[in-house]
Amino acid sequence: INIKITDRNGTLHEVLVPTDMSMNLMEVIRSYEIADEGTIGVCGGMAMCASCQVYVDNNFDLPEMDVEEDAMLGEAYHVQENSRLGCQIPITAQLEGLEVTLAPYP
Ligand code: FES
Repeated sequence: INIKITDRNGTLHEVLVPTDMSMNLMEVIRSYEIADEGTIGVCGGMAMCASCQVYVDNNFDLPEMDVEEDAMLGEAYHVQENSRLGCQIPITAQLEGLEVTLAPYP
């Protein structure tokens, strides 16, 4: 699937992501080196650090947040109405065309 990710410097990255690798969006951002190592996925994808926070750009219909994600975003910095945690968004075929912008490092 094609995903567009704007990094923390404002550079747009268009990435082609396989859907059969059980990855989440945080892992995609790491593996494509869209954010410096150590500034994304700090908690290892446990919804406990918000270093993977993204803003969803195009009113995309993502799966609902669970309580852990909602609670972490309740405490994190730079949270907007369209904030999500990348580590809590599994890559599926439904994400084709998703556009996100990385939030500033917390
Ligand atoms: Fe820590 Fe997503 S990697 S909250």
